[in-house]
Amino acid sequence: MNTQRFGILIRPSANRVYAESSVALLEAELEVLDRTLLGGRVGDVASRTIGGVPYLTFSADGLSERDVALLSNLSSLYALFRLGEGTALHPVGLNPLERLDDDLLTIQKYAGKTNEYFTKLLLNVTLWSSASGPHMTDRRLRVLDPMCGRGTTLNQAMMYGYDADGVDIDGKDFEAYAGFLRTWLKRKRLKHTAETSPVRRDRKVVGRRLDVVYGLSKEEYRSGDRHRLTVVNADTVRAAEFFAAESFDVIATDAPYGVQHGARNREALTRSPLELLTRALPGWVRLLRPGGAVGISWNTCVTGREEAVEALAAAGLEPLEEGPYLKFRHRVDQAIVRDVIVARKP
Ligand SMILES: C[S@@+](CC[C@H](N)C(=O)[O-])C[C@H]1O[C@@H](n2cnc3c(N)ncnc32)[C@H](O)[C@@H]1O
Repeated sequence: MNTQRFGILIRPSANRVYAESSVALLEAELEVLDRTLLGGRVGDVASRTIGGVPYLTFSADGLSERDVALLSNLSSLYALFRLGEGTALHPVGLNPLERLDDDLLTIQKYAGKTNEYFTKLLLNVTLWSSASGPHMTDRRLRVLDPMCGRGTTLNQAMMYGYDADGVDIDGKDFEAYAGFLRTWLKRKRLKHTAETSPVRRDRKVVGRRLDVVYGLSKEEYRSGDRHRLTVVNADTVRAAEFFAAESFDVIATDAPYGVQHGARNREALTRSPLELLTRALPGWVRLLRPGGAVGISWNTCVTGREEAVEALAAAGLEPLEEGPYLKFRHRVDQAIVRDVIVARKP
């Protein structure tokens, strides 16, 4: 087959999120997709300006329907073109995995929210690196965000049609997310039940949980083919007490940044993100299926990459420390230089 060139138009909002890093981050994400699921067929990745607008271009020996479906989920992809003669652009029809309206991800706005496109990137690269990656589009996977805040990762997992679970220690976040999700499901007229109840251990209340069961459509709900979401308001160090062992395909989380942001001091609870990771990882690993992957983003101004690698390895995981996995570092603001690390459970 003839080699063709393609161009990805980057979502305009990605530039606002990542400033000058947006092309580099998309390139790293594309490279992870290529080596995990596209079989290394993507070549000559380069940035190019066409008509005054930046594109990430690459070559491939044609793209199958499955290739396009996978590429369609790149977090900052806005449009995909086959490049023609001169500056001609031929649109390639996208087929993203989007089971729900995207305002699920954009309505909530609050200090400390992880940007929804970055969250999608983190979930994508973790998912693709797990043994379940090849089933991204044909199975209902299960995702855990063990420090889920107000649920950006959970919402992205719902968008993909997956079951999603979260843990967060912050009671206000728990309440705000429970309230948001109830209202959203009602407004979208999606059939559901949502119940909040205390979590007890040895007759003591150790937290609260929100259990949501919903259908992507009325037919789905009626037929009993229902989606599930649980959020537990508790310390993530206890995560393994709340869910069944080896039941998650992927764990993805944006760790506390160890700095204060916004009016509320939501980070005061955890002065040292590394210490928290070290204590929480054994429980998280227990929850992960063999072949499952953990993806963590964190602030490198507070914890170095080597320390993060050591913490993951000490918990029995295999950190993926090569190629594109080393290219996700980017500045968020003056006090935060964020990075991503992915590790697999053997
Ligand atoms: C960077 S924020 C994550 C924000 C989230 N991705 C969102 O978009 O809403 C880190 C979260 O870790 C939570 N956290 C900190 N220490 C924790 C602990 N020991 N157990 C559970 N959650 C914790 C904080 O409450 C905060 O919500």
